[in-house]
Amino acid sequence: MTTSTLATMDSVVVGRSARMRAVFEFLRVIGNSDSTVLVTGESGTGKEVTATLIHQSSRRKHHPFVAVSCALFSETLIESELFGHERGAFTGAIKDRPGRFELADGGTIFLDDIDDVPLSMQVKLLRVLQNRTIERLGGTRTVPVNVRVIAGSKRDLKQMVVDGKFREDLFYRLNVLPIALPPLRERREDIPMLMDHFIERYFRRRGEDVPPVSEAVKQAFLRYGWPGNVRELENACERIAQTCTCGTVRIGCMSASILLRAGGPPPDLSAVAPASAPAKDAAPVSLDDRIRDLEANLIGWALKVSNGNKSRAAELLQIKRSTLGDRINRCGLGRVETIRADGEATSSTLSAS
Ligand SMILES: Nc1ncnc2c1ncn2[C@@H]1O[C@H](COP(=O)(O)OP(=O)(O)OP(=O)(O)O)[C@@H](O)[C@H]1O
Ligand SMILES: [Mg+2]
Repeated sequence: MTTSTLATMDSVVVGRSARMRAVFEFLRVIGNSDSTVLVTGESGTGKEVTATLIHQSSRRKHHPFVAVSCALFSETLIESELFGHERGAFTGAIKDRPGRFELADGGTIFLDDIDDVPLSMQVKLLRVLQNRTIERLGGTRTVPVNVRVIAGSKRDLKQMVVDGKFREDLFYRLNVLPIALPPLRERREDIPMLMDHFIERYFRRRGEDVPPVSEAVKQAFLRYGWPGNVRELENACERIAQTCTCGTVRIGCMSASILLRAGGPPPDLSAVAPASAPAKDAAPVSLDDRIRDLEANLIGWALKVSNGNKSRAAELLQIKRSTLGDRINRCGLGRVETIRADGEATSSTLSAS
């Protein structure tokens, strides 16, 4: 395990940015603490995998880890989901049912999307966190629960308190050990490492050797904005593992929606050349592969800056429109989605005509 990877049997969190190294350090420090943790971060930044890692690194690891998204339940259902109910508590409650807190006894409960909990329920949660007991819906017994609580939020709870949407007392109860996961756009130096991690994972899962990744693909990954954060990057790598059969991950193996939005300045030729090394140490380079990568990268750039307008893209590349169509097909960009002028992906085909 290196300082840029924190892993247990099931959960791996990687990152080498200063922001993620600070998170790793904090996770180590809180190791065996039983205090409540509040993990905040945009969608796909790794809240759940972090919560799992905290549980698996704690002395509670042999007990259950129960994750529940508070966003999935209506105001009436969430109480019964969390605290359980007794038979007859409401129409349809045909038998006694323990809630998630009871199921997590001895272990950890991950209350994800805590920012979606309605105010009426927040007061009930506060009582549970203070007393460490629950009462099933329709029940009269008070049941003690031995549970470590980790809450997850995609919104800034402090701001929600200011806006009157979240109880201040509950916020302080949850915010004992705060962990803020930065979005990927604020830690771009993690992108290559995450890409390697997921490319390896998904090729191995398919029982295949892990192929080298072309420089053009690495650059496109670095330039893209990743609005969906790590989850989106992971999906992009999984897709590559499914479609790439050419022995090297090339631009043509990437989703065009990512490629075209990666845009950026025309790629720098020097970036496509291998780093200089004495002739005896130099690895062989396929000139054809490199040229194909560069060509696909330039075409992707031209289509991006011309908002998918092929006539304009052809002008930019100083080739005929029909030639551009041929090249798009040759690079494998013709099979995938096109980008409308507003940047949204559509399911239509980027045809050569
Ligand atoms: N730093 C990381 N290293 C390795 N994998 C990661 C990292 N961050 C996230 N992942 C992976 O990305 C995917 C999304 O992460 P996760 O579900 O934890 O995000 P989330 O913040 O809970 O998202 P949401 O708010 O949408 O529920 C998961 O498959 C997770 O394993
Ligand atoms: Mg989640």
